[in-house]
Amino acid sequence: MNERVIFQSAVPLDNPYRCAGTLQTWQAEVGKNAVGNSRLMLALSAAFAGPLLQPLSVEGGGFHFRGGSSTGKTTALQVAGSVWGGGGINGYVGTWRATSNGLEGIAALHCDTLLCLDEIGQIDAREAGQVAYMLSNGRGKSRAGRGGEARKSSEWRVLFLSSGEISLAQKIAEDTRNRRAMAGQEVRIVDVTADAGAGMGIFEVLHGFPGPDAFARHFKAAISKNYGHASIAFLTKLVEAPTKNVERAAVLMKAFQEQNTVSGADGQVSRVLARFALAAAAGELALEFGILPWASGNAFDAARKCFRAWIDGRGGTEAAEDRDALTTVRRFLEAHGSSRFELIHGEAHAGTEQAIDSRIINRAGFVRHQDGEREYIFLPETWKDVCAGMDPGRVAKVLVERGFMLTGGDGKPQVKQRLPGIAKPARCYVVSSSILADD
Ligand SMILES: Nc1ncnc2c1ncn2[C@@H]1O[C@H](COP(=O)(O)OP(=O)(O)OP(=O)(O)O)[C@@H](O)[C@H]1O
Ligand SMILES: [Mg+2]
Repeated sequence: MNERVIFQSAVPLDNPYRCAGTLQTWQAEVGKNAVGNSRLMLALSAAFAGPLLQPLSVEGGGFHFRGGSSTGKTTALQVAGSVWGGGGINGYVGTWRATSNGLEGIAALHCDTLLCLDEIGQIDAREAGQVAYMLSNGRGKSRAGRGGEARKSSEWRVLFLSSGEISLAQKIAEDTRNRRAMAGQEVRIVDVTADAGAGMGIFEVLHGFPGPDAFARHFKAAISKNYGHASIAFLTKLVEAPTKNVERAAVLMKAFQEQNTVSGADGQVSRVLARFALAAAAGELALEFGILPWASGNAFDAARKCFRAWIDGRGGTEAAEDRDALTTVRRFLEAHGSSRFELIHGEAHAGTEQAIDSRIINRAGFVRHQDGEREYIFLPETWKDVCAGMDPGRVAKVLVERGFMLTGGDGKPQVKQRLPGIAKPARCYVVSSSILADD
């Protein structure tokens, strides 16, 4: 591996891969102080994962630290960035404040290394979802050249870290066209709460510093003087015995996945688990190389803690679409259950919520009382509206699986029902009010 490679770019670049200080000082002041702080350790571990993406054939993607202001999110990104570089006015960490075209160029520049993007709040909500796919899938837009011919689009492989006060899903929801984040986007940018739950923002162990504020300032000061050496040391070690090291990384990754597999979890969960496993493996490899001054198993523990935080944050291990299906229907019934459903079977009597002559404005469906529960009846067209852009069939299936929707004799979610004002029995969806009590 003595080949000298010189990178020639078509455009002038600000090279963020600078070095300062020494590896030893970085280890003492940055690496050691990260111990016990799961978010910092995950960020540091992930920093070494970029060069392993290709040899391990795993997909790119990112971790997003979400939390309130001054919890240490940017600090975590800067700590990870110091593995690769720093200096200049802004250091190694870039920002989301860019267009998708601009981010393409930035991503290509960070191919196989680490990309850090701070403040997700700054990207245009209309572009956020697309960018999530673009960064992880590693390919820019196809464009036409001057003569209309297809130009080669830029390509990259990147593991990225991101931060913000809101999640990607919340960012996408800011779009006035009111779009929901697709499950695929949420799998690509994994949301980890920045607050580690120890009452000190992102930090859990202060290593003798008087408070989290001073601890954050210590990191900022330490990495302004020491950066860039860790990645060089890692790459040097990696290529000394490439086959052996990649095999070791694969073994570590598999071990993490096996230890943390959640039985019965959705495929989305195992895909995200693979991303945590990659970071964990990279961290363990870096500590085995003597670069991260941690004890064996530390990187695994930190990644495990963050993986659990991710599961808690998403509300369980079911598919994101299934969870959305339940919350969408539940939200609709919470908002309209007592005002937009017409009571049937002449059940309105004194004391019930709806008097016989009460008028339903903008009727969404019908309601009847059954065994102490209420049953909400939707006609198929209204059901589509309730599902708000999701596949109505899939939403119905999820509700049937959880026992919140009645099935016909054929096991299908639609049942035939006589309804007031409709001559023939109509096919409808019947949802039990027990969905409102379930959490
Ligand atoms: N966990 C913490 N507890 C208390 N103060 C903190 C903590 N983390 C950071 N700070 C303070 O906030 C300053 C900014 O830190 P940092 O840039 O990491 O915050 P941030 O979470 O990115 O905030 P913002 O959302 O405003 O960008 C630090 O210099 C420090 O003074
Ligand atoms: Mg910040």
